[in-house]
Formats: sequence, C-alpha cells, structure tokens
Amino acid sequence: MSGLILVTGATGKTGGSLVSQLQRKGVPCRAASRRGAPLFDWERPSTWDAALEDVASVYLVAPPTVNNPYDLMLDFIASAMRKGVRRFVFLSMAGLPAGGPAHGQVHQWLKDNSDDWAVLCPSAFMQNFAQGHNLATIREEDRIYSNTGAGRVPFIDANDIASAALAVLTAPTPPNTEFALTGDESISYDRVAELIGHACDRRISHIHVSTEEMAERLVKRGLPEATAGFLAFAYAMVAAGTEDRTTDAVRTLTGRPPATFQTFAETHADVWRRVG
Ligand SMILES: NC(=O)c1ccc[n+]([C@@H]2O[C@H](COP(=O)([O-])OP(=O)(O)OC[C@H]3O[C@@H](n4cnc5c(N)ncnc54)[C@H](OP(=O)(O)O)[C@@H]3O)[C@@H](O)[C@H]2O)c1
Repeated sequence: MSGLILVTGATGKTGGSLVSQLQRKGVPCRAASRRGAPLFDWERPSTWDAALEDVASVYLVAPPTVNNPYDLMLDFIASAMRKGVRRFVFLSMAGLPAGGPAHGQVHQWLKDNSDDWAVLCPSAFMQNFAQGHNLATIREEDRIYSNTGAGRVPFIDANDIASAALAVLTAPTPPNTEFALTGDESISYDRVAELIGHACDRRISHIHVSTEEMAERLVKRGLPEATAGFLAFAYAMVAAGTEDRTTDAVRTLTGRPPATFQTFAETHADVWRRVG
C-alpha cells in the first residue's frame, strides 16, 4: 500500500521509531503529536483535519495519558474514513482481545467497520525500563518495584514493533488480522533486574509489592488513576502466568529475529547510570 502515512504517538516509543524507519526508507509520513506541526491532540478534535490531509494510512496509538480515550479514537477513525483514509494499523496490547475492555473496543470496531486494518498486540516493551517510573527507581534506589512476582514476560523491543508496523502499513494487500508480537525469550522481573545490573555494573533488585501498592506507586509517579490501576492489573496477570508465551510474528513480518533483553540492556546501559 502506498501513500502518506500518519503516525500518531510519533514522539513515543514505537511511533518515534516508526517515523525514523519510514524516513530512512523514503516512505512519506507525517508525525502526529502535541509537539508536531501540524499539532495533533486527541483531546482537541479541531486539530484532526489538518493531520489527516491527504493521508492514506494511519498508525494508531492510544494516548496513555488520556483517561478512557476510546470514544475519541473511534470518532477520529470515522472522520479519517470520511476523508478517504484506507488502512488503519492499531497498537493494542497482549491480553486485550477484540471486544474486550479498553483497547479491545477499538480492535472490535475496526474488525466490524473497516475493510483494511491490522491490530498489533505486543507484549510489554523493554523500553519501559529505560523511561518513566522504572527508570526513576533504578537510578534513585537501584530497585524495580512490581507485583509481577515470578511471572515471566516475553519483553519486546519497541523498535521491533515499529518494524512490524512498517511491514503491515506498507503491505500490498489489506492485512485484516491481528498480530501477537513478542520477543524470543520470556523472562521474570528478577532476571530483568539482573540483566540491567550486569549492563550498568550495579546490583539492581526487584522488589515484590502488592497490586494495591503498585497502583499507588504509579499514581505517585504521575500516572492517571485509571491507567495506574490498569497497569497494576496487567502486572497481576503477569504474576498469574498469562503473558508467558512467545510467537514468531516479528520474524515473519520483518524477516529478522527480535532483539534480546541482554542486547537491549547493553545498548541502554548509560541510561541507568547515576548522574552526578
Ligand atoms: N509500554 C508497554 O509495555 C506497552 C505494551 C503494549 C501496548 N502498549 C500500548 O502502547 C501505547 C503507547 O504507550 P507508551 O507507554 O509506549 O507511550 P508512548 O507511545 O511512548 O508515548 C505516548 C505517545 O502518545 C502521545 N500523546 C499522549 N497524549 C496525547 C494527546 N492528548 N494527543 C496526541 N498525542 C498524545 C505522546 O505524544 P506527545 O506527548 O508528544 O503529544 C507520545 O507520542 C498505549 O496504548 C499502550 O497501551 C504499551
């Protein structure tokens, strides 16, 4: 599929990488975010039309900072269809099936109303440890807090999700399916702490907390209450073992194996070093 690609979440973990990869390949794209030009804000529908001008395909990222953004997203997709957008590639997440809560609503809507769509359902991102609350506690306390227990996750590098998104956005025929994207190995948060510690030459510990304490910690770190509660719930699912499975979708879509956590940790070692 050719034509201009609108990338929402373009300053984020997958969107940022997708914009860079599209630019490197010479595929025309427009980066949409509240810091872009034209400015795009999910919460200000008056900014949507300019972002959608001449667009053929959209990469849709639900904004994590907006409580319950799904009605806004469905309005946006309907507007985009009226303006002639053909393909929608939506970043959902593992464990949220079509028709289920949260992202599952957008997934179901695309299935029911679009004839050119794809939904990416990735496992948790490796980049979560190089940004946000995990980065803060690693730097400040040498600790990672979670209620994931001994549960294991096939962490995926956001760059691999972006590469998969690129493949799906530019595929010659409508994908009309979902892709479960994972890394190649499932590891526990204890192992994550060990790999990060090894990469940055410090002992990093994984501190096991309850689901309630995790949600409170995330709120204290600035996440909206609904997002914090949802994340803590997702971590509890990890503890229950629901995320412990790998797929070969990254290989199939991109033609290369996904990055390992060890490589990710070695590449990002400087991020975890203490400043000053
Ligand atoms: N992190 C994970 O492990 C994981 C796993 C599976 C799925 N996901 C899904 O991935 C999505 C992205 O999550 P993330 O944590 O990785 O965030 P992210 O993509 O790194 O960052 C969020 C992006 O959303 C944009 N944004 C936020 N509010 C906006 C608004 N009102 N209008 C326009 N753009 C806005 C931000 O841009 P500006 O602030 O520049 O506007 C930024 O580009 C979420 O839907 C999440 O559920 C995440």
